[in-house]
Amino acid sequence: MNLDRVINLADVRRLAKRRLPPMAFDFIEGGCDDEVGLRKNEAAFEAYQLLPRYLVDVSKFELATTLAGQKFALPIGIAPTGAAGIFRHDGDRELARAAAAANVPFVMSANSNGSLEEAATVAPEHTWFQLYGLKDSSVTADKVRRAADAGIKTLVLSVDVPVSSNRERNRRSEFSLSLRVTPSMVLQALTHPGWTLEYFRNGGLPPLKNYSPYAPPGADAITVNNVFASLFPAPSLTWSLLDDVRRIWPRKLFVKGLMHPEDAVRAVSAGADGIMVSNHGARQLDRAPAPIDALPAIRTAVGDRAEITLDGGVRRGADVVTALCLGADAVFIGRPALYGAVVGGSAGVRKVLDILGAELQMILGQIGCPRTADLGPHFIVRPDHNVLEVARGAKTSGTTLPHS
Ligand code: FNR
Repeated sequence: MNLDRVINLADVRRLAKRRLPPMAFDFIEGGCDDEVGLRKNEAAFEAYQLLPRYLVDVSKFELATTLAGQKFALPIGIAPTGAAGIFRHDGDRELARAAAAANVPFVMSANSNGSLEEAATVAPEHTWFQLYGLKDSSVTADKVRRAADAGIKTLVLSVDVPVSSNRERNRRSEFSLSLRVTPSMVLQALTHPGWTLEYFRNGGLPPLKNYSPYAPPGADAITVNNVFASLFPAPSLTWSLLDDVRRIWPRKLFVKGLMHPEDAVRAVSAGADGIMVSNHGARQLDRAPAPIDALPAIRTAVGDRAEITLDGGVRRGADVVTALCLGADAVFIGRPALYGAVVGGSAGVRKVLDILGAELQMILGQIGCPRTADLGPHFIVRPDHNVLEVARGAKTSGTTLPHS
């Protein structure tokens, strides 16, 4: 199978798995502890059913979405994923290019191999920047300043890594960002020559370039990556981090990784423009709820005071529809976009976005709701409800059924 023949996101994942050495694939794919959360993030979507309405004109669709004051082609964006340059040479720029071509937002990771300045040059209208609070607040502040100087429009503050997590796949494979070479790695490299040739032809381990300014001039990748490791995670950080960032960041600010409604309300009160409901792709707290299950309470608590996005386990157009029905303004994808980059650079990422966009449109047609703006809970049959309750709920809550 090649990129031309893939028909869904699972196909793209399979191709990426074939190309990458297992330790690299596992770094992307893995969750933590027992990987309960990893399974749950995807499975939770399947528990929600969509209740179709028929004899609705679905000959024209409106998928365009305004988020953080920008108009995008789809209610779908690319979530931040660190170290993309290990898996695909120049992976961050490939992701940025694809986002610009598809007119969707790309959140560059704080821990990217490309620099935020590079991404802002490749995709000035589509690059958002994700920030972590660091042990040295002057470095955190400097990154905020750099993002502002580079013209980044939206800053995403991720708060869900207070301490490191237990990623057993990486521990077993000894995969780390300072990549000590083991005999098993050599064997894996030899049996995955496509990835290996590209990796070594481009100089081997890339640095986490956003940290280069804080390392000695000319420092090699391992030294730069050790600077990162000395600054992060920063376990003593509290809500004053958000106040500090809000004070110095002049544009749109989203807070990523919130799961509790009270935390979401607190973030909005502190000046966040948006909340990204996320459990970090089930890579931090294995027993956290699936984001799709956490979303409704957060929307209820926040109301219309902030935009809300969701990421974690989105693999089908039906997942996008479900999230929008339950209160998200947009969804983001992490692993699928990265797998697209692995397989085909920006064309691979485009393919993933195209597939998801086409599936989204098809499901809107199937349920009789051609405008994403008209989606709502009245299309959802919850795991613990039946169809009759949905119909009654729609009437008693006064929700207008679209086109009825
Ligand atoms: C991530 N994620 C992440 N989040 C973040 O805020 N900063 C980061 O640097 C990273 N790095 C990262 C690397 C890799 C390889 C993965 C898979 C994920 C989490 C990411 O932004 C997002 O929350 C999840 O990936 C969403 O889940 P799905 O779409 O991968 O199921």
